[in-house]
Amino acid sequence: MLTVAVLVSGRGTNLEALLEAERRDQLGGASIELVLCDNEDAAALERAEGYDVETRFVDPTGMEREAYDETLVEILEAAGIDLVVLAGFMRVLSPTFLSAFPDRIINIHPSLLPAFQGLHAQEQALEAGVRVAGATTHFVTEEVDDGPIILQSVVPVHPDDDEETLSQRVLETEHRILPASVRLFAEGRLSISEGRVQIKGEVDLPGRALIVPEVTS
Ligand code: GRF
Repeated sequence: MLTVAVLVSGRGTNLEALLEAERRDQLGGASIELVLCDNEDAAALERAEGYDVETRFVDPTGMEREAYDETLVEILEAAGIDLVVLAGFMRVLSPTFLSAFPDRIINIHPSLLPAFQGLHAQEQALEAGVRVAGATTHFVTEEVDDGPIILQSVVPVHPDDDEETLSQRVLETEHRILPASVRLFAEGRLSISEGRVQIKGEVDLPGRALIVPEVTS
C-alpha cells in the first residue's frame, strides 16, 4: 500500500478532496497517513478533523530552510511515507528535501503551466487576457511550479470574471485532478521519461477534469 503525506499551509480544500477520495476508495488504495503544516492557524488542520489522519504543525519560526526541511524529512521518513503531496504548501522545498523523495513529490498549481507560475496565478491569467485557464499537477523539481506535468484541467475565462470567480472555477477542477493524480501514482501508472510523464492506460476521472469550453463568440 502506498503511504501518502500531504503538506499544507492554509485553507486545505485540496487536502479535503484527497481525504474524501480516500474515504470513497478513489485513491488507488493509497493511504493518507500524515498531514504536515507550517501554519498553526491553518484551516486545513480543522478540515482534517473527522478523517482518520494524523496532523502535525511543524513550527518554522527561527529555522533556516535547510534545517526545517531536514526536520520534515525526518518526520516523513519515520512515518514511512512513500509519496509527498503539496496542497497549498507555501514554502519552496530545498534540494535536501527533493533528494529525499526523488520523483515522489506532487504539487498542484492553479494555472495551465508553464504559464503563470508563482503567486496569484489567476490574477496573472486575467491580466494576460487568456480565454482559458486551469490547473496543473506535476512532479516537483528544483524550479518553482515546474517539473513533469501529470494532469491539467481547463476552464473558460468569462468576460466578467475577477480573481475570486476564476479561482473558484479553477479550484473545483483542482479537486478532481489532484486525487486522480495520486490515484494514478498509487496504481503505478506514471513514469517519467525525458522530463515528460507517461500515463499507462486511460485516465478515469470522477467528473470532467478536462473541460473544453464552447466558443460562443
Ligand atoms: C490551490 O489553488 C493550489 O492550487 C495552490 O494553493 C491553493 C491551495 O488551496 N497551490 P487549498 O488550501 O487546497 O484550499
